Amino acid sequence: MTYGRFEPGSPQKRVLSLFQGAPPVVRAHVAVRWATCPFPAVAAQLPQAGRILEIGCGHGLLSLYLALGSSNRSITGIDVDEDKLGAARAAAEGAGLDASFEVASDGELPEGPWDGMAIVDVLYLLSASDQAGLLRACADGLAPGGVLVVKEMALVPRWKFRWNTLQETAAVKILGITEGEELTFLPPAELAAAMVAGGLTVRDRPIHRGYPHPHHLLVGRKPG
Ligand SMILES: C[S@@+](CC[C@H](N)C(=O)[O-])C[C@H]1O[C@@H](n2cnc3c(N)ncnc32)[C@H](O)[C@@H]1O
Repeated sequence: MTYGRFEPGSPQKRVLSLFQGAPPVVRAHVAVRWATCPFPAVAAQLPQAGRILEIGCGHGLLSLYLALGSSNRSITGIDVDEDKLGAARAAAEGAGLDASFEVASDGELPEGPWDGMAIVDVLYLLSASDQAGLLRACADGLAPGGVLVVKEMALVPRWKFRWNTLQETAAVKILGITEGEELTFLPPAELAAAMVAGGLTVRDRPIHRGYPHPHHLLVGRKPG
């Protein structure tokens, strides 16, 4: 498989090659996921060094990309899906990366403080109150000057939102690719408000140009 728009040896190209030993279904999943989610824009907001936690890391694409991008980062990914974590672990171990993957314990985050935290397309699987609670817990777990980066889907443009809802309904309720029960897409302004309530300074912007989904980025910084 080739990834023509990336430089040879770049983290973008290398991240998918980490899955060479994985079953075809996993390789196909991560290739599609990488092509349809703006991970580099998310990664660019995270510190180059320090302890970084990714919540709901899935197969670990962002965590592995972050580890490839700087050996001064120590990455921990957590998720509720053991199979995805197994694929992430195998990919990290095969390349000797400083990235560990653990099962998320119920309602608890691993001990901080964290210099960076990331949540990519996970909040919508939680109830509105659990989303606010998780964002608050993340804010509490950040080190002074630390950054919480959230990438979720906005509710506009409407056609992109409708396409995303259709696809996620199939992934969660029909195919069972993603663990979850209900889909609760909150407007980015509500997520930002929960982050601000946790004491963070928040910037947000759409990052969906060139993608069929309404990707939206929120970056919260704890006062240093
Ligand atoms: C759409 S996938 C996104 C995975 C990954 N963040 C990515 O961008 O490729 C959502 C992930 O959230 C995980 N998840 C769902 N509920 C969770 C929870 N309460 N705690 C941690 N992970 C959760 C799912 O198992 C799944 O891997």
